[in-house]
This record gives sequence, structure tokens and C-alpha cells, in this order.
Amino acid sequence: MGRSCFPKCKLAKLMGWLQIILGGLVILVSILSLTKFYSAGFFLRNEDICQHFYTVKDVYGDFDAKALSDRVGEVLNSLEALQAKLESKVQELEKNKGTLDKKLLEEEIVRPLHSANVALRQIRLPKIEEKNNTLKEDPLINFFITEEIRKYITPKENRVGNFNVYGTDKVYNTIGHACVLYKKELEEYMDYDIGSYCDDDWNLAQKLMLNGCDPVPRRRCLTRASKVYQKPYPINESLWRLPDHRNVRWGNYQCRNFECLSSKNPKRGYSKCTGCFEMEKEKLKWVSNSSLAVDFLIRDVLAIKPGEIRIGLDYGIGTGTFAARMREQNVTIVSTAINLGAPFNEMIALRGLIPLYVTLNQRLPFFDNTMDLIHTTGFMDGWIDLLLLDYILYDWDRILRPGGLLWIDNFFCNKKDLDDYMYMFLQLRYKKHKWAISPKSKDEVYLSALLEKPPRAI
Ligand SMILES: *[C@@H]1O[C@H](CO)[C@@H](O)[C@H](O)[C@H]1NC(C)=O
Ligand SMILES: *[C@@H]1O[C@H](CO)[C@@H](O)[C@H](O)[C@H]1NC(C)=O
Ligand SMILES: *[C@@H]1O[C@H](CO)[C@@H](O)[C@H](O)[C@H]1NC(C)=O
Ligand SMILES: *[C@@H]1O[C@H](CO)[C@@H](O)[C@H](O)[C@H]1NC(C)=O
Repeated sequence: MGRSCFPKCKLAKLMGWLQIILGGLVILVSILSLTKFYSAGFFLRNEDICQHFYTVKDVYGDFDAKALSDRVGEVLNSLEALQAKLESKVQELEKNKGTLDKKLLEEEIVRPLHSANVALRQIRLPKIEEKNNTLKEDPLINFFITEEIRKYITPKENRVGNFNVYGTDKVYNTIGHACVLYKKELEEYMDYDIGSYCDDDWNLAQKLMLNGCDPVPRRRCLTRASKVYQKPYPINESLWRLPDHRNVRWGNYQCRNFECLSSKNPKRGYSKCTGCFEMEKEKLKWVSNSSLAVDFLIRDVLAIKPGEIRIGLDYGIGTGTFAARMREQNVTIVSTAINLGAPFNEMIALRGLIPLYVTLNQRLPFFDNTMDLIHTTGFMDGWIDLLLLDYILYDWDRILRPGGLLWIDNFFCNKKDLDDYMYMFLQLRYKKHKWAISPKSKDEVYLSALLEKPPRAI
């Protein structure tokens, strides 16, 4: 009895201390955050009133900031020591097979303590020196109530006061302006306990992305992962093998494994790129002769610029097969991927290829004149608005290098719209290497083209 009580009693004592300290901390943190937000004018919309009553000097006039900052430092140190002590205690208990619930200790005490520590470190007192009164309040800050969103979009100053070459000393975490239309969803997304596990809510994030709240804010919670994650297959096997289903969290899909995603299954849960998860079918793409003129072969395309095509982008929805084939040709391809009802991103990554999680909303995250090749298939078809297509084409043009290739692969549309789309693709006056049109159905046609970006004089 005595033995088993020993760690318990000690712990009770420890917890008592901890509660007192944490309580004190909470008060301290609240006071500090409050003064911080007052000084930034977050609660005051009228700048004149703000300047009149709450200049930094007034708030801190009879307040020894240096002493407070020293005190915070002291608390930080003692917190850290306490945390170390607690953690070693947990390990000790584990070794001695103590009766204590280790998980509880870890989740209820060590982790919150750690978060409190981090939160305390992030408190910054406003500078005491008289500041140029140009501190501008971001107009969106007052729109959101959730503290974590407000913190996210507040510009963060460079801690050592350095300016970058564009004259800014702040990092601006942005959220797309369309976020204001999805206030409820965004507040739900940002409602979490700092440092704990996030909900399994990538689907909510993707909804925000597709609705223009893009980029989605970063969060300070831990993303969930498969409990039974297996090491991936080696690259000489992974490229053409269905991955281990244990490496995917299936909670937000209709299927529960990769075999279920077969096009033969009517309940597969997705409609774009059906058949993409069948490796026998995928193996034929771009390498085996086809009877259709619109099916170009990788061999023929690369032969146009031998040795010149090294890096590129595959813009569409797929499982990375184009990138896998190009990898075999020593060409590095990044594949765009959205998880529309199936784990496209996970599949591409598990094959050992790079998924790029972007929507149609975004300017591509590549610099001007850098890519040797852009290949696009199966994503933008006859549904796409011409003005949107125009912006996308110009963005592709921006990232393609002079002499780079644009491969439009099996674009399909209604016959009557073909002229419009042809005009769009030809407007940039690229050199035409290949151009083919084949019927798809009675009313629809396929168009494939291989175009080269010309050098530009200016
Ligand atoms: C305050 O800002 C203005 C322009 O924004 C600048 O010209 C001036 O030098 C600044 N003053 C101080 C003291 O930084
Ligand atoms: C893949 O490579 C590993 C060594 O790197 C080798 O042991 C294995 O047999 C290879 N697998 C195949 C299918 O070639
Ligand atoms: C595909 O066609 C080319 C010529 O058009 C030919 O050289 C090649 O052998 C064919 N490949 C297959 C697998 O039939
Ligand atoms: C790719 O690179 C490897 C190593 O440099 C080389 O052995 C192989 O022949 C190359 N493959 C192609 C298709 O160029």
C-alpha cells in the first residue's frame, strides 16, 4: 500500500503546486494580452479617440516595463525547470510501472504546461519608445471574433527589427478575402486547443480553399495521422504499386482502401479521373501506341527537345502517373492534386512523387521563366470559363521558360465551343509542334496540342 501510494501522494502535491502556478500564469497572460490589444487599438475603431486616450505612453506611463519583463523571464525559467522535473517524473513512473495514468499526465499536465510556456514566450510588450503613430489596424481584424484568427492575421514584426529589401519588417500571414464569406466555417476551423490534436477536418479546410478562402491559415494544433502507418515501399517498387491502405486516414472518404477506388465500384465516392487507381490501366498511358491522333507519346514529345526537358508541372487531377513515367526519363514533375472524394495527394506521395496541393484559385507558386514543361489533362475541360482560362494561360506562360513546352492533352469540349478554345490556346502565338483533334462523342471533341513558348525580345 505504502509503496503504491508514494508516487500518487507526491503527484497530488505536485499537482497542487501546478494548479497554483498555472492559475497565476493564466491571470498574467490575460493581463498581458489585454494591454497588448489595447495598445494596438483592436478594441477601438476611432483612431482619434485611440490616440487621445490610449497612447502607449499613457498606458505605460507609471508602469515599470523592465521589471515586468524581468519577472516574465523569471517565470519562464521556473516554468521550464518545473516542466523538466515533471517530464522526468513521468519517465520514472513509467520505468517503475507506477499505477498512475501516464497518458493523463502527459495530456492533462505536461502538454498544457508546455503550451503555457510557449504562450508566455510569445507575449511581447509594446516598445516603450515613442513610436511613429503609423501603426495601422488591419481592417479585417475586427471582423473576426476567434482570437486565433486575429492573432494569425496580425502582422508579425521582425524580432531584431530588420527590414527586408522591400522595406518591410513584418510577416503578413494572409487569408483570402473570400474568407469573410465563410466566417462560420473559418471560425470552426480555427477553434481548437493550441498544442493539442486538430480535428480530422482537412475536408473543411479543402472546402474553404475551393471557396476562395485560400490560402487557409496555419494552425497550432497537431494533425492526426494513421495509427498504423507503415514505411513506404522503396522507390523501385512504389512508382507502379498501389500503396498500403494503412498509410491513409480514410475517415473522410467513402472507400476504406485503394482497391475500393476502382472504376468498377459505383460507390467509389469520386467522379474525376475514374480508373486512375488501376495501375494496369495507368501503365499504358503516354507510352503505348494508341489509335487516336490526340494521344501523344512521351517519347515523341521529349524527342522534340532532346535533353532539354528536366523539370515541369503536371496540372490536372490524377495519381501521378505522368510524373512516374517522366521520372523514368529523368524528368522531375510536380503534380497538382486536390482530394476530390479520393486520396489523390496521399497516393501521389506514397508512389514517391510530389503532390502540389493547389486549387484553380491560386497563382502558381513558381517563379517566372523557370519550367521546361507544363502538361495538363483531365481537369479543365469545356466547363471552364473563358476569362478564367485566360488568367490560367497567362500564368502558365509566366512560369514557362522561353523554349518551354505546353502540352495540352486530351482537352475536351462541345464541338460548337471548339473555335473559342482554339483561339484561347493560340492567342499567345506559341510555335505549334503538334496539333490534333478527334471526335469524343456526337457533340464533343478532343483537342491535343504541343506548343512552345517563344523567346521574347523585351
Ligand atoms: C515617421 O513616419 C514618416 C513617414 O511615414 C517618416 O517620414 C518619419 O521619418 C518617421 N519618423 C520617425 C521618428 O520614425
Ligand atoms: C528494389 O531495390 C532494393 C534495393 O535497393 C532491392 O532489394 C529490391 O529487390 C528491389 N525491388 C525490385 C522489385 O526490383
Ligand atoms: C508504336 O509505333 C511506332 C511507330 O509508329 C513503332 O516504331 C513502335 O514499335 C510501336 N510500338 C508498339 C509497342 O507497338
Ligand atoms: C537516367 O539517369 C540515369 C543515371 O544518370 C541513367 O543511368 C539513365 O540511363 C537515365 N535514363 C534516361 C532515360 O535517360
